[in-house]
Amino acid sequence: MRSYKELLLSNRAWSEEMRERDENYFTQQTVGQKPEILWIGCSDSRVSPDQITQTNPGEIFIHRNVANIVHRDDTNLMAVLQFAVDVLQVKHIVLCGHHGCGGIEATLKGGAEGPIHEWLEDTRRVYANHKTEVDGAGDMTARIDRLVECNVRDQLFDLAQSKTVKAAFDRGQPLLLHGWVYDIRDGLLKPLMEIDKDTDLNPDKAPDTVLLKEKES
Ligand code: CO
Repeated sequence: MRSYKELLLSNRAWSEEMRERDENYFTQQTVGQKPEILWIGCSDSRVSPDQITQTNPGEIFIHRNVANIVHRDDTNLMAVLQFAVDVLQVKHIVLCGHHGCGGIEATLKGGAEGPIHEWLEDTRRVYANHKTEVDGAGDMTARIDRLVECNVRDQLFDLAQSKTVKAAFDRGQPLLLHGWVYDIRDGLLKPLMEIDKDTDLNPDKAPDTVLLKEKES
């Protein structure tokens, strides 16, 4: 594990390397940002969006929290969402969960206290809504994996019903929401579902997590 001093040294080396490759690299960065993607993911240190997608500075606008939760009364996330959709006009929002998520594990096993316990109220709600599906998935690892997927699905639905996204859909702004899961066991992203302005968000007709898997097979 690297110490904080090595981070500063690595940063210096990276800055020099980028300027060697393109002397105007940082000058161009000062012009502004125009990312096409907003990423909402987990704070987990193993799931760094830029790294796992090989993207460069300026390409992804990012919000991360424990267990990639979309609380509509979370001013932090709602401000990020508003800026990304209304000002940056991103074309895609990726909501990404991941297997082995500590927040989801704590939701199933309990044991979290204080602010983490409060924060996970939303994933406990997701679990309560999909208890049969999750409990029937198999051993604890399989249950965690299943709840990770259910959580992505439910959070993406909440995102689709946020004021900012609904307004963008209503005015015909190009915007597609994606629910993905990252597997820390093989480093691969799995697309689970998509929502656009025409998606029926009625819970009885709504697409579930197997939608894209079924499309592929
Ligand atoms: Co996590």
